[in-house]
Amino acid sequence: MKNLQNTTSVSFFALILACLSPIFSAHAQAPAPDSPAIEAKAQAMVAKLTLAQKVELIGGIDSMYTHAMPAIGLPRFKMSDASVGVRTWGPTTAYAGGVALAATWDTEFARTLGEGLGKDARARNVNFLLGPGVNIARSPIAGRNFEYLSEDPYLNATIVVPFIQGVQSQGVIATAKHYALNDQEFNRHNASSDADERTMREIYLPAFEAAVTKGHVDAVMNSYNQVNGVHATENEFLNLKVLKGEWGFKGVLMSDWDATYDGVAAANNGLDLEMPSPKFMNAKNLLPAVQAGQVKESTIDDKVLRLIRTELRYGFTDRPQFDPADSTYSVADRAIALRGALESITLLKNEGHLLPLDSGKVKTIAIIGPDAWPAVTGGGGSSAATAFEPVSTLTGIANLLGPDVHVLYSRGLPEMVDVFRQTQWNGDVKVEIYPSRDFTGTPETGARRNVSDWKPNQWEPADPTPRSIRYTAAFKAGRAGKYLLLAAASGEDAFKVSADGKQILDQVRAEGQVPKYTSIDLTAGQTVKIEADYAPLAAGTRFGMGIVYEPELVSADAKQFASLADVVVVAIGFNAPTEGEGHDRTFTLPWGQDALVEAVAAANPHTIVTLTGGGGMDTRRWLDKVPALLHTWYPGQEGGTAVAEVLFGKHNPEGKLPVSFDRAWEDSPSAPYYYGVTGGDTTLHTIGENGKPLDYTIAHIRYGDRLMVGYRYWTTTGKHPLFPFGFGLSYTTFSFANLQAPATTASGSAVTVSFDVTNSGSVAGAEVAQVYVSDPSAKAIRPERELKGFEKVRLAPGETRHVTLSLDARAFSYWDEAGHKWTIDPGKFEILVGDSSENTPLRAEVTLN
Ligand code: BGC
Repeated sequence: MKNLQNTTSVSFFALILACLSPIFSAHAQAPAPDSPAIEAKAQAMVAKLTLAQKVELIGGIDSMYTHAMPAIGLPRFKMSDASVGVRTWGPTTAYAGGVALAATWDTEFARTLGEGLGKDARARNVNFLLGPGVNIARSPIAGRNFEYLSEDPYLNATIVVPFIQGVQSQGVIATAKHYALNDQEFNRHNASSDADERTMREIYLPAFEAAVTKGHVDAVMNSYNQVNGVHATENEFLNLKVLKGEWGFKGVLMSDWDATYDGVAAANNGLDLEMPSPKFMNAKNLLPAVQAGQVKESTIDDKVLRLIRTELRYGFTDRPQFDPADSTYSVADRAIALRGALESITLLKNEGHLLPLDSGKVKTIAIIGPDAWPAVTGGGGSSAATAFEPVSTLTGIANLLGPDVHVLYSRGLPEMVDVFRQTQWNGDVKVEIYPSRDFTGTPETGARRNVSDWKPNQWEPADPTPRSIRYTAAFKAGRAGKYLLLAAASGEDAFKVSADGKQILDQVRAEGQVPKYTSIDLTAGQTVKIEADYAPLAAGTRFGMGIVYEPELVSADAKQFASLADVVVVAIGFNAPTEGEGHDRTFTLPWGQDALVEAVAAANPHTIVTLTGGGGMDTRRWLDKVPALLHTWYPGQEGGTAVAEVLFGKHNPEGKLPVSFDRAWEDSPSAPYYYGVTGGDTTLHTIGENGKPLDYTIAHIRYGDRLMVGYRYWTTTGKHPLFPFGFGLSYTTFSFANLQAPATTASGSAVTVSFDVTNSGSVAGAEVAQVYVSDPSAKAIRPERELKGFEKVRLAPGETRHVTLSLDARAFSYWDEAGHKWTIDPGKFEILVGDSSENTPLRAEVTLN
C-alpha cells in the first residue's frame, strides 16, 4: 500500500488570522455605560406611560420583536436566534458555534466570533441576539448540547465572556440562555431540574454568573423547565436572589418562547419581558393584579425601565441598527467560519500516523456516508441557519484535491423515507383513526400500501381535537436473517410498535429520536404482525415505518468504491433532524451507520471516520477496526474545507474535547437520574391556550450526580472514559516542564503558576495547556480535580513558551452549603498541568494558610 502521509504542514491559516484583525476594529459601537443622563431620560419616558401602556411593553410581538410605544418615540426592536449564525431573517453565515466554539478553547477566537455575529446582526437590523447558550452538557444525549458549550463551568465561563463582549461591542445586545438548568430536551416544558444549591453554584450557574458579572451581558433568557419545582420564569431564587440580587444584573430578563406559565408569579419573580407575546403578563392578568395589590406598579416600572434604559444605552432610539458598513454576506465572515471549523475539529485516533494524508499520493478517494453530502452545518431547531454556500465533506475534499484525483461518492445507506416508501408489506396496511387520545371509540378505517407520512420536526401548534392512530400490517420475510425495523415521528409525538403482540419500540412524548430502530430475526417465509400505535401532538400525521433486510442495508457501490480507493472517508453521525431542539438524541449512531463503517473498513484498511454531533456517541462496534477518527462537531458552512485541510495536513488539528466521550450512555454519570421520577409519558393531554399540553405530571429530574459531571466523575472514581475531557491529538507532539508555584501563600489571594510548553515534534501546531486544581484536604467532598485555568499556545517546531496563569480565590473555593457562601479550606492543594483531564504530567503543591 502506498505511503499516504504528508510531511509538510500548516499553510495559509496564519494568514487568515492576520487578515481578520483590522477588519474587526472598524465599526464597533459599544453600548454606553449607564449614566445619570440615560437614567433621567428613561425615567422621563416611563413617567409618560399609563399602566396599561407599560404592561404592553413587557410582552413581545410578531414572534421576534419588542413592543413599540410611539407615544414616547420608542420603535419596536428586532431579535434573531444566534447559536451558530444570525439565522432568523434569511440566509446567513453559519459558523462552528456552541460546542464547536468550546472545542477551540480559544478565548480570542470567541471574541472574533462574537464580533462577526454582531456585524451579521447589524447587517440584518437585529438589536437582540438570542445567544449565547451556556447550559452545561450534563448528558451526551441532551438534544441541544451542540448549541451550548461544554461540561465544565470554568471553560464555559471563560469562553462566554469574550464572546459576549464581541457581540455587544458591535452595538447588539447578547442574551445568555437558557437560565437555568435546562440540560435536557426531554419533557422540557414540564421537567423540574432538582439540584441542591452547591451543585447549582459550582456547576450550573458559573457561566451565567460570568456572563453577567464579567461579560456584562445585557439580556438573559429564562428556560422552559422548572428548577426545584418552580418554573424558571417565576423562580425567585434564580431571578431575584441570584441574578438581579447577588450578581447585580441590570439588563432585561426575557422568557424563552412560551416559557411563561403564570403572569402574576412571573411579574413578581423577576421576568421583565414575556416572549414571543404576552399570553400571561398581559393587561387582563396584570391590571387587576396591580389594582388588588398583588403586583406593585413599581415592579412593572422596573421592568419597563430595564428595557428602555438598555435600549437607550445602545443608542437604539438615536441611530438605525442597520449599519451600511457591515455586509450581509462577506468573505471575512467565511474566514471566521473556516477558522472556527479548523480550530474545533478534534482528532481522536490516528493509528500508525495514517494522517495527515499526502494529496500527491492519493489517486482515488472514496467519500461515503449520510453526512458526506449535503453539508451538515448545524443541528436542528431554532438555531438552524441556512448558509449561503455550505461546503460538504465531499466537495471540500474534492476541491482540495483538484481535477487529477478520482473522487467516488456514495451515501452508503438508503434514505429513511425510501425505506418507508419501499417496504413491501404483505397486503395493505390497515389504518384506524380513533376519535380519542387513547385508541377508544369507533375508528375511521382505511387502507394504505405503506406508512410514509414522516416529515422533519416543524413547529406545529398542538391539535385540540382528540385523535390517535393504529396501523396494522403484516411483513413476510423473503430470506432468513436480521431485518431492521425503523419508525419515526415528530419529536413531540409518542408511539409504540409491537411485533406479534410484543412491544419492540417506543417513543415517549418529547423524547423524540429520529428514527427509532430495532433488529428482528426472521426465518425464510415467516410472517410477523406489526402494529403501531401513534399519538400525534399536532394536526396531521408525521409518522413513518418500514423494514429493510440488514445484509442489504449498505449499498453495493459503497463497498465497491471502498475497495477501489487508496483511502476512504466515512462521514457519519447526526444532523438537523436527528439532533436538535425539542427532543433528545440517541447515544447510538443513527440507524445503519455502524454497519456502514464495518462494511467499508472490511473493504479498505485506510478508512477514516468523521463524526458529526454535539458530543460523544457509541463507537464500540467498529472503533478498533478503523485507524483514524475525527470529531467535527457541527462545523458550520466551511466544515468540508476544514475537514479536507485537516486530513491533508494543511492545518494541524488542534481541537480538544470540551466534553468527556463515554463508551456507553449508561456510563455517563447522569444516566441513572436522567428521566427522573415519573419517567416518560405516552398519553395525550389537555391542550392549553398557548398550545402546550397543560396537565403533564411534572417529572422531577433529581440531579443525583451532583458535582460529578463529566470528567469530575471519571477522575474522582478513577475510572476512564473512552476519550477524556481536554483530549485531542495533533500532528506534532508537545511536552510540559518546569512548573513553578508558590509553596505557601495566604488563603484568598491569587496564586500565580507558570510552566513551559514545548513543541517537541516537527510541524507547527497548537496545544491547550490545562491547569487543574485538586483539594485533597477539603472538609467537604470535592471532585478529584477541577479545571481552573488554560491557555492555547501556538508553537513552531522546537519552540518553547513559558505560560503564566493566575488562579484567583474562586479556583480554590467550594460552595459551603451551611454558610451559603464560597469558602476555602486552608491546607494543601495540588496544581496539575497537562493536555487533558487525564494526562497531567506536572504537579505542584501549594499550601494556603
Ligand atoms: C428556543 C430559544 C430561542 C427561541 C426563539 C425557543 O424555542 O428555546 O433558544 O431563542 O425559541 O426562536
